[in-house]
Amino acid sequence: MPTPQETARLEQIKKSWQQKRQITERLGKIKTKIGVYSGKGGVGKTTVAVNLAVTLASQGNSVGLLDVDIDCPNVTKVMGITDKPDYVDGQIIPSEKWGVKVVSMAFFQENPDEAIIWRGPMIHNAISQFLQQTEWDELDYLVVDLPPGTSDSPLTIMQNLPMDGFVVVSTPQDLANLDAKRCINMIRKLNLNVLGVVENYTGEIFGEGGGKNLAKEVDAPFLGDIALRSIYRDASKPTALLDKSVGKEFKSVADAMKKSLKEFGSEAV
Ligand SMILES: Nc1ncnc2c1ncn2[C@@H]1O[C@H](COP(=O)(O)OP(=O)(O)OP(=O)(O)O)[C@@H](O)[C@H]1O
Ligand SMILES: [Mg+2]
Repeated sequence: MPTPQETARLEQIKKSWQQKRQITERLGKIKTKIGVYSGKGGVGKTTVAVNLAVTLASQGNSVGLLDVDIDCPNVTKVMGITDKPDYVDGQIIPSEKWGVKVVSMAFFQENPDEAIIWRGPMIHNAISQFLQQTEWDELDYLVVDLPPGTSDSPLTIMQNLPMDGFVVVSTPQDLANLDAKRCINMIRKLNLNVLGVVENYTGEIFGEGGGKNLAKEVDAPFLGDIALRSIYRDASKPTALLDKSVGKEFKSVADAMKKSLKEFGSEAV
């Protein structure tokens, strides 16, 4: 006879496997899943995730964007989304804007200024629920905006979502790249792919080259530079749709990412 503790433990393992299987089934119609990640906060992950998503959509792909930054969900702000997703028969139907389907924790926040202070298991459950309940339908790409660092939510995503790979955002400065290296190590420790490095904030103020150097050091592809520009302050549209030069930068990042996906054997559209 198993002890009550053993029974409880077995139940927990069973539940976690069921959850994982459900998530895999749910995401079965998504061809390519990409995480946008960094070691440090504020380097431009959300900016890269949003602009990459709208760029892929503008190329005729069906695209979803999932914001799993539970503490600080910013995707809806950058996308300018005010409509909440529909909740039908226990399923979350994503909101849609700029040709991209979006699901974010921000939709479930009563007050956007409220800080969400959750501990590990709650974060894990919230993310699992998102993954289990969202009806993305068929997608060419799902872009996941991750919170920085090596904490609970990126770990949950990496362990529960069958990701095709990660785009790592870094800056021209060296210190940030130390953190980026740490997060690249974490991705690889979990046997996942680093699709490449994007350098953000490139230009006269912060310099350039840090991203390229990092890519070389960790033996990952360099996907491109994104220049520091004041146009990002215009919140009327995702910047890649607003400014031709920015649009070009993101097209070039998207192309380099697709090439990397192919090299890793993923289905790039
Ligand atoms: N290339 C750029 N030029 C000018 N401003 C930028 C650029 N990239 C990002 N920003 C601005 O920098 C701020 C931080 O960017 P963003 O929110 O994308 O970073 P993040 O890495 O997602 O941050 P967090 O770690 O808090 O999630 C935003 O106000 C954004 O508009
Ligand atoms: Mg962010």
